[in-house]
Amino acid sequence: MSTLRCTPLHDDFGARVTGIELGEPISSVQIEGIRAAIDEYSLLVFPDQQMTDEAQLALTSQLGEPEAEHVTLGRTGETVHFGTVGNISADGSQHGNEAASTRYQKGNQLWHSDSSFREVPSYVTITHGYEVVGEGGETEFVSARAAYDRLDSADRDLVDPLEAVHDYLFSRSPVAPVHPAHAASLPPVAHRLVRTNPGNGRQNLFVGSHVRSVVGWGGIESRELLDRLVAHTTHADAVYAHAWSTDDTVIWDNRCLIHRGRPYDADRWRRRMRQTRVVGAERGRIH
Ligand SMILES: [Fe+2]
Repeated sequence: MSTLRCTPLHDDFGARVTGIELGEPISSVQIEGIRAAIDEYSLLVFPDQQMTDEAQLALTSQLGEPEAEHVTLGRTGETVHFGTVGNISADGSQHGNEAASTRYQKGNQLWHSDSSFREVPSYVTITHGYEVVGEGGETEFVSARAAYDRLDSADRDLVDPLEAVHDYLFSRSPVAPVHPAHAASLPPVAHRLVRTNPGNGRQNLFVGSHVRSVVGWGGIESRELLDRLVAHTTHADAVYAHAWSTDDTVIWDNRCLIHRGRPYDADRWRRRMRQTRVVGAERGRIH
């Protein structure tokens, strides 16, 4: 049976989870326990995990369909299930602050939901920290479910029926050039601005830097509303900053959290984290 023990991390969301070894085979009962904890807490931090790529892919597959990493898929058509976060190459060498790959990852310092720009956005992201930095590099999270709950009734009535366009080229091309084939693989897509968790009926905003515009609204009003919703969602008291420890495995619910990476000195520190994502169940429409 499941023996997960969850200790809350923030008033709105998040739990530190013990009582499971994610590097070992995981039972279907344990998977259901993790799914229930995702629905309840949105962010799960599992400390001291002896993870491997093989075990991480097994866990990912037990939670659903592993997502094809979009950069490689877009550029080459090849399906790979892992992304590497940080500044360490496959050969173990370190990239500094001026490396192109370091600059590309600066886009992750904007508030976002992973893969929200895809026709089918992701359910969860799973990240394991093999090498972590000693200063900076936190991942900050906020609950867009708590943010929805804190809207007044007039704002809920305003946002409930709306759709918004998510556009990777819009959000990322100002940060670093996007390969043309990659850009072509990610046409803008419209998603509901308010999503509902099918398991518990809880509603949340679906906002962040990938959101370009509100469908049917003019540019200025659209931008004002989206910026106001992000500011409301990311209020300082609403943020949980996760300072990574070596061997943390972290699962976050992209349906209802947004997050951002904080800067670190890539000249000074080594960082190597392996990331997988699980495909979600809701499909947007190509815009
Ligand atoms: Fe991310």
